[in-house]
Amino acid sequence: MRRSFPTIPLAMAFAAGIVLAGCADRTTEAEQPYRAVADIHQTMEFILDPAADVIWDSAGTIITAQGREELAPTTDEGWAGVVRAAVTLSEAGNLLMLPGRTGGADWIEYSQALVDAGELAMQAAQAKDSDALFDAGGRIFQVCKACHTQYWVEVDESQ
Ligand code: HEC
Repeated sequence: MRRSFPTIPLAMAFAAGIVLAGCADRTTEAEQPYRAVADIHQTMEFILDPAADVIWDSAGTIITAQGREELAPTTDEGWAGVVRAAVTLSEAGNLLMLPGRTGGADWIEYSQALVDAGELAMQAAQAKDSDALFDAGGRIFQVCKACHTQYWVEVDESQ
């Protein structure tokens, strides 16, 4: 009994190894399960930009003819909308890292920074912390700007 006991898990591990090796072979042979639909232009216009706008429109203050206006949401639904946008933005960073979309090591770094900054915005909105949301919004802006400076070749500096 003492001798045969360890042989059972070993045999199972061996069998599992064969099964896993079989899976690995199939995965490399088969196509990837995902399929990119939007190009980078559409990903920016339809996913990143609207989500970032929700966050930027919900953080800080603006001066209007009526005076100083706090942009932070005042209702639960308002904050929930910011959480949604922040999660969208954070996960959009992952979308930017799909093969075929990446532009190299710096691109990956900016995309990861977007995942992080979006998560900070999500946490700020969950905590209804308007100062933290403002900070996260600033970080998000820096990430957008950094990647555009390097990768958006048609960027018009006059605008
Ligand atoms: C990892 C790199 C990267 C990051 C991060 C990034 N962008 Fe972009 N963005 C690009 C590239 C490249 C283009 C040019 C795409 C094209 O060819 O039209 C672009 C273009 C755009 C455009 C113009 C789309 C159009 O109509 O042509 C908008 C708007 C935009 N980005 C918004 C954002 C916002 C907002 C953020 C941050 C929340 C952001 N981007 C973050 C790479 C990035």
